[in-house]
Amino acid sequence: MITNELNKTGADVGTVPGYILEIAPYQAGKPISELAREFGLDPARIVKLASNENPLGLPESARIAMVEVAQSLARYPDPNGFDLKAALAKRHAIPAGWLTLGNGSNDLLELASLALLSPGMSCVYAQYAFAVYRLATQARGARHIVTPAANYGHDLDAMFDAIDDDTRLVYIANPNNPTGTFAPAARVSGFLERVSERYGDRVTVVLDEAYTEYLEPDLRFDSARWVELHSNLIVTRTFSKAYGLAGLRVGFAMAQSRLTDLLNRVRQPFNVNSMAQAAAIAVLNDAEFLQRGFEVNKQGKQALYGAFEELGLTYVPSYGNFVLVHVGNAAAINLELLKRGVIVRPVDGDGLAQWLRVSIGLPDENARFIEALTEVLAQP
Ligand SMILES: Cc1ncc(COP(=O)(O)O)c(C=O)c1O
Repeated sequence: MITNELNKTGADVGTVPGYILEIAPYQAGKPISELAREFGLDPARIVKLASNENPLGLPESARIAMVEVAQSLARYPDPNGFDLKAALAKRHAIPAGWLTLGNGSNDLLELASLALLSPGMSCVYAQYAFAVYRLATQARGARHIVTPAANYGHDLDAMFDAIDDDTRLVYIANPNNPTGTFAPAARVSGFLERVSERYGDRVTVVLDEAYTEYLEPDLRFDSARWVELHSNLIVTRTFSKAYGLAGLRVGFAMAQSRLTDLLNRVRQPFNVNSMAQAAAIAVLNDAEFLQRGFEVNKQGKQALYGAFEELGLTYVPSYGNFVLVHVGNAAAINLELLKRGVIVRPVDGDGLAQWLRVSIGLPDENARFIEALTEVLAQP
C-alpha cells in the first residue's frame, strides 16, 4: 500500500533532498493560449473543460468589488483578512479565530502538511484522491500510505485501518477530484469520531470540500459543526469552483484554535491578495450566482451522462462539476480533441490512463465537446 513510485529526475541527489527530486510536478489543465499557439487555433473557438472552473465566468458582484479595491493596490492586503473572516464566521457560525485564509484552498492543503508532516511521519490518503495530497506529502519527505479505492471513491474503513504509529495527517476529498465520488455525511462523521476517539490530536484529518456547493440539497451537511466537535479536524473550502474566482486564488480553512494557530505559523503573511479578499466577500452573499451555477452544472451533467451512454462509454457518476469518463486510449483521444480545439483533462498521472476528466461547461461548450468526442470515436 505504500507507494513511492514517483519521478526520478536523475539530478544531483547530493545537493537536494531525494524526496524533492522525486516529486512529479502537478499537471494543470492546458491554458487556452497554449493550445492556440501549439495548433494555430483561434483562441475564441477553443473550449476549455479541463480545470473544473465555473463556466458562468466572473460574478458581476465580484467584478464590482474588485474595481473598487483596485484604488488601494499599492498597499499590502490585510494580512489577517479581517473582513472576509468576519463574513465567513457569520456564514458558518464559528469564531473568526477558527479561520485561516489561503491562496486558493491548495495553499491550505500545503500548509497543513507543512505544519504537521516531516521525514519519519506518514500521511494517509486514498488511491485516486486529489493529486495535491501526494505532492504535499512528498514535499515534506513524509511517507505515503495510499489505501485502495472502493468504486473509485475513498474507502474510509481502509483509511482508518491504515493509520499507523507515524501517521500525523489524513486527507479526504469529499467530493473527490478527479473521480467525482462522494462519501455521505454519516460515513464521514463516523470516520471522524473513530479517529478522534482512537488517536485524539495526534492524527489530524483534513476534509477537503472544494466541490461541496454542487451537492444536491438532500446530501448537504454542515461540516462547521464537525469542527466544533473535533479538535483534530481541518475543513477546507474554496472560492475557485462554485463561486467563480479560480484566477484570484482564495480559499479558507475552518479548524479549532490549536490547528488554526499552527496553520498561521507557516502561512506567508500576505498570502491572499486584496482583490481576492474583496471579491470573496461579495460573492459569499451572491446567492443568485451560486444557484445559477448549480442549475447549469446539474443540466450539463445530465447532458454529458446522456451522451456517454449513447456512445457506450462508462463514466463515474459525479457529485462535482466534472465527470470522469472511460475512453480507452485516452492519450490519442485527447490529442484528437485538442486538434479540434477542445481541452479536457488526461488523468494518467492519477493512475487512470484510460480515462479523461471533463469539466461541465455551458450548454454550447458541452455540445462542442460531445460533437468532437463523437467524431473522434467514429474515426477508424
Ligand atoms: C479536491 C480539490 N481540492 C482542492 C482544490 C484546490 O483548488 P483551489 O486551490 O483553487 O482552491 C482542487 C482544485 O482543483 C480540488 O479539486
